[in-house]
Amino acid sequence: MCFSLLIKQIPLSLTPLHPCFFSMQNIEVRPVKDKQELDDMFHQRWLVLRSPLGMDKGTEKDKHEDSAFHLVAVCDHKVVGSARLRLLSKELGSIAYLAVLPEFRHQGIGTKLMEKLIEIAHEKNLNTLRLMSRVHAVNFYKRLGFCEVGEPFYYLDVSHIFMQCKLQQSQKNAKD
Ligand SMILES: CC(C)(COP(=O)(O)OP(=O)(O)OC[C@H]1O[C@@H](n2cnc3c(N)ncnc32)[C@H](O)[C@@H]1OP(=O)(O)O)[C@@H](O)C(=O)NCCC(=O)NCCS
Repeated sequence: MCFSLLIKQIPLSLTPLHPCFFSMQNIEVRPVKDKQELDDMFHQRWLVLRSPLGMDKGTEKDKHEDSAFHLVAVCDHKVVGSARLRLLSKELGSIAYLAVLPEFRHQGIGTKLMEKLIEIAHEKNLNTLRLMSRVHAVNFYKRLGFCEVGEPFYYLDVSHIFMQCKLQQSQKNAKD
């Protein structure tokens, strides 16, 4: 039987052509390694967070990129997920731009990116992490130890809410 006929008989979700073929074992979560990968990461961020809002290339960046810490999830040399940590003071960190390509979601990549940033925040002795969550992602962040702060508001015409996580507290909860 020829290969193409064989492939047609296998459900798409089990073929190497489908993103779900890549398990977390194939995904590397690590800091951005060079300028090319940084550019790839901005493109991936734009694809997930700005293009669907009809916004131009370049709008995915802000003035804090050079001083921030960038984490990527890479699958087969492709940036499929990313997130940023920035220090606002010695004790306070801000997480932003968490984004996973649609075809790679629900496999734990977003969680892994967040867990890694929380681990780094602990290493830096931060005691609080803040972020601005899209309202649809609130439960995702709650599971990671974040709580809502204040009332929802609109940013870029998308409903958001501030959330924060007290790190000592989340560490204690993890031990309980
Ligand atoms: C929010 C976002 C980053 C989550 O990324 P993700 O990689 O899908 O995250 P995870 O896979 O870790 O968790 C997502 C869900 O998959 C589930 N999940 C995790 N691992 C799983 C697995 N192996 N099998 C099935 N489901 C799984 C989680 O329980 C979670 O459930 P929920 O949708 O009910 O919350 C992603 O949806 C995204 O980029 N959205 C657009 C941009 C955005 O909203 N960014 C964040 C808000 S500012």
